[in-house]
Amino acid sequence: MKFFLDTANLAQIKEANDLGILDGITTNPSLMAKEGIKGKEAIDNHYKTICEIVNGDVSAEVFSTTFNEIIEEGKKLAAIHPNIVVKVPMIKDGVKAVKWFTDNGIRTNVTLVFNAGQAILAAKAGAAYVSPFIGRIDDTCWDGVQLVAQIANIYSIQGFKTEVLAASIRNANHIIQCAEAGADVCTCPLDSILGLLKHPLTDIGLAKFLEDAKKM
Ligand code: G3P
Repeated sequence: MKFFLDTANLAQIKEANDLGILDGITTNPSLMAKEGIKGKEAIDNHYKTICEIVNGDVSAEVFSTTFNEIIEEGKKLAAIHPNIVVKVPMIKDGVKAVKWFTDNGIRTNVTLVFNAGQAILAAKAGAAYVSPFIGRIDDTCWDGVQLVAQIANIYSIQGFKTEVLAASIRNANHIIQCAEAGADVCTCPLDSILGLLKHPLTDIGLAKFLEDAKKM
């Protein structure tokens, strides 16, 4: 399973990249706004900077919701760097645009996916990635991880090449569950990745080893 970081924060991107386990980045308008990125030039420059730090796919989301506008915006985003993947919302014009991008050699990530039907449509349109939102499904008292398993199973049965990118990850356990459910990619906040490191017995064991090492 690939590890993507779900942020537009450059310090966090550098920290995860330095760990040596980072395969890519996903962003969305909320994450870009959180970093105070405003205006087309600043947005493009920010994506360029991220692409220069990380050697992997970087999802950049369109703000448009009509076919022609999504195509124009997506073409410009894709031209920023070869690693840019155009992130498109799961709406009717979005699906049509994904098919157009696929036919024209531009890779896409279909976002805001909340059921298997939407995931089938994204795959039929040729998306490189489909993004089911695990945490937001859990918030509605459904099982987000179960959706990842269902999509992975359908794609395997049908031979779809679209990668299942588990998004809206809220904790380290989500990452483990998504790996078990067959996700190809997990896009996570840095805290959730760092949460995988933690176990009290590791800390206790290391303290004891270091104490005993002084006796050697
Ligand atoms: O990748 C989508 C993700 O950013 C949504 O996460 O925590 O806002 O549901 P969250």
